[in-house]
Order: sequence, then C-alpha cells, then structure tokens
Amino acid sequence: TNPPAQFPENFVFGGATAAYQVEGETRTHGKGKVAWDDFLEAQGRFSPDPASDFYNQYPVDLELCEEFGINGIRLSIAWSRIFPNGIGEINPEGVQFYHDLFAECHKHHVEPFVTLHHFDTPLPLFEKGDFLNRETIDAFVDFATFCFKEYADQVTYWFTFNEIWADASNTYIEGTFPGGVKAHLAEAFQCEHNMMLAHAKAVLAFHNGGFKGKIGVIQSLEFKYPLNENDPADIKAANNEHVLQNQFLLDATFRGDYAPDTLECANRLAAVSGGTIEILDEDLEIMREAALYNDYLGVNNYQCRFLKAYDGENDLHHNGTGEKGTGRWRVKGIGEHVNKPGVPTTDWDWIIYPEGLFDLLVYIKQRYPNYKQIFITENGMGYKDPYKDGFVDDQPRIDYIEQHLRWLLKAMEVGVNVGGYFLWSLQDQFSWTNGYNKRYGFFYVDFETQKRTPKASAYWYKHVAQTRRLD
Ligand code: BG6
Repeated sequence: TNPPAQFPENFVFGGATAAYQVEGETRTHGKGKVAWDDFLEAQGRFSPDPASDFYNQYPVDLELCEEFGINGIRLSIAWSRIFPNGIGEINPEGVQFYHDLFAECHKHHVEPFVTLHHFDTPLPLFEKGDFLNRETIDAFVDFATFCFKEYADQVTYWFTFNEIWADASNTYIEGTFPGGVKAHLAEAFQCEHNMMLAHAKAVLAFHNGGFKGKIGVIQSLEFKYPLNENDPADIKAANNEHVLQNQFLLDATFRGDYAPDTLECANRLAAVSGGTIEILDEDLEIMREAALYNDYLGVNNYQCRFLKAYDGENDLHHNGTGEKGTGRWRVKGIGEHVNKPGVPTTDWDWIIYPEGLFDLLVYIKQRYPNYKQIFITENGMGYKDPYKDGFVDDQPRIDYIEQHLRWLLKAMEVGVNVGGYFLWSLQDQFSWTNGYNKRYGFFYVDFETQKRTPKASAYWYKHVAQTRRLD
C-alpha cells in the first residue's frame, strides 16, 4: 500500500485577509477614499469600520498565527493608504504602517504574501472609469513599483491583483459592487483584459527592476460542468462561462495572448450585450513577455458550477442574506447556474464539491504546462458560526477544509506543484456584499469587543500543520 499522503516540508499553511475587510480605520491616518466608502454609507446596511480592527489588532492576530502553526498570511496593501489619491502625494503614516506590519509578521515567523489590489482602487481613479480607463493601468504600475522598492527587504512573495474575474463580474455582470451594472459582458471582458495588461506591466517592472522575490496574480477559478453532460447546449453553456471566468484570464496569464477558441467565444459573448473588446497588438507584446516571468499562480476556489443552457432575459439576483435558494444567475447567451441534485450547498447556496478543485488543478497543469507553481490563495466556507460558552464548534467548516485538502493532495500526487494553502479567512472579517454574519475565519471575532476566540477549526488546522498530514 502507498504511504499516507503528506504535505511537503516547506508547504505553507496559511490564512488570508484583505486590507478593506480587516483593517478598519478606513477614513483615518491619512487614508484616501475608495468607492466602497460612500457606496456602503449610502446603502446603510453595514460599515467597514472597524471590521476586525486589524490596523490595531494585527499583533494579536499574528501571535495567534504562531500559536496555531499558521506560517503564512495573505494580506493586501491598501493602495489609498499609501497614495491617498492613487497617484502623487504619499501618506508617510500608511507607508510606515505596512513596515510595522511586515516586521511583526517576521517576528512571529509568519511569511507575508502580499497583494497589491483587492477590489480597492483609490476613488479619484475609480471615478474616471477604474480599469476601463487605461490611465489607471499606469497609476497601478507606479504604485506597485513604489511598493517593490519600499518593502524589498520585508516582502518576498507578491501578487498583483486579487480575483480579476470577481472584480469584473461583480461590477459588470452581477452589479453588486460600486457603480455596478448587470449583464454588460463586453465591459466585463474589457476590464479583465485591461487588468491583465496592468498585471503584465507590473510583472515587467518587477523583473526589469531586478527585485528579489517572486510575483504572480490571483485568479478566482471554478470548474464548470454541464448539468447534463450529454446535452450539447449545456456543454456550450458550461464552456461559455468557463471562458469568461477561467480561460480568458489564464490564457492572458500563461500565454500572454488569447488562443483562437478563447477569442472566438469572448467576442461572441461580448456581442450579446452589444459591445466589442479592444485588444491592441502592443498589449499582447507586453503580455507575452510578462508571461515568462510569472513565478506562480494564486488560485482562489470555493466551489464549482453546474450549468444549463439559457437564452431568456437576464435574471440575476445575489443571495446576500444567507437564506437558501434566494440567489439566481441566468445570463442571456451564457447559461444558468443550477444545483445538481444530491450535491450539498452552504447557506449562501455555494456548491460544496471538492472534486472540482482537483479537476481545476489538473486542467491548469494540462492546458498550461509552463505554469511553475500554484498557491491556493483562498478556499473556505461561509458559515453562521455558533458562539457558545466561549467556544465555537464549526465542524462543517472542518469537513469542508478537510475534503478540499484531500483533493488537493490527490492533485499533488498526479504532479500538480502546489506550494501552500490559505484558508479564507484568517479571522472573521467584513464581507463586501454580505456584511458580518457570513463568517469564514479560524478565529472568531466579537465585532463589539474585537476579542478573538479560536474556533474548533483552528485547533484542527494546527494539528494538520504540525503533522503535515490528514489523519
Ligand atoms: C473572494 C474575495 O471573492 O471571496 C474575498 O477575494 C471575499 O474578498 C471572499 O470576501 C468570500 O466572498 P464573500 O462574498 O462570501 O465575502
């Protein structure tokens, strides 16, 4: 019999955060505005302040990481904390904050994996069109280059963007992000392309600047299955969404170009909402060169999708409350999300199908043999955690993580190179469109007192990290 599968010695057992979702202090200490500030205030549903008060509590969280065997943390630098207007004037207090934060990470032997953009473009740039405006691309590259230089001694692992697909789809398809509109497929593709061009330019700035360390991009990927695998219309629906979410971005990442089948599908879908995608030859030249220097890919993966053909009117409804069965995703020309009978879902209707992670990783390895390494930069389960007598029993989350780690190990056994796993999230945080009752963390946060309580999953993960195996 085979020896029990074990994670390699240098595997990173991490937890993930994002600046806007944990830091709080969104309008203090010289930080500039982002679109979310006024958007959330106008909605009046929930405030991003103080969230998990990470701006002040990070020493507590990093001490907990060390205690629970978590040796990596994903965090992001809030662009508008460094450049309050996106370009120009610098906020020294913000610059110092991240120096102090990274120093604290190293003090606790927790490696920082740093993202430069996590849904938080500074407001002045956002108002001029965000990444649909090419000026934002150059501003981003300047900000990235500033960070590469400033934090060169403290940060080894960089990511340019978090989830280009989520940014594009929440803004131009689902319409749940600031300035959002529904079912504008051409804008969604254009946003994806422009952000990938910004990624490529930042990678080249990193490479040509001779910085030490490594760099990549984080994509949010989901394997797409046709509901009826013998029905050509369902197969086409699954492929449409696969191109829109996965293949367009992965081609851009690893080929620096779009394969003919990718481009054909993208142009066809863009035309459904009456638009075209602008891809310049000079963009592709830059992207092709940058594709040589991606050190790794960050994969965020929570679920897979089952798709059915759909050609009716657009019908999109976000389940932001955690009431089962209240979400809908039907997009004309693409397809409809459906649940496959017998497959479990979370309260927010997210499909729990860990095998999807395996299929996804194997697909990446096969289609993009030039990938070097993958980090699972987010995976996790939103849950209404029960806090009782000073303890949180989150067994469903433990089951979720365990199953995903098993399929991850299987993928590694068939040769996929994976360097680490980051649970979303390290501690409970603010969720962009769901607020505070959708919890994901290892560490329960009492949002009144900011007290942290390690959940059952934290104790379980500690054991896995220490033994590097799933018993
Ligand atoms: C990812 C994001 O899309 O999923 C995180 O990178 C986000 O920022 C996470 O919080 C979970 O999504 P949600 O909507 O459940 O908070």
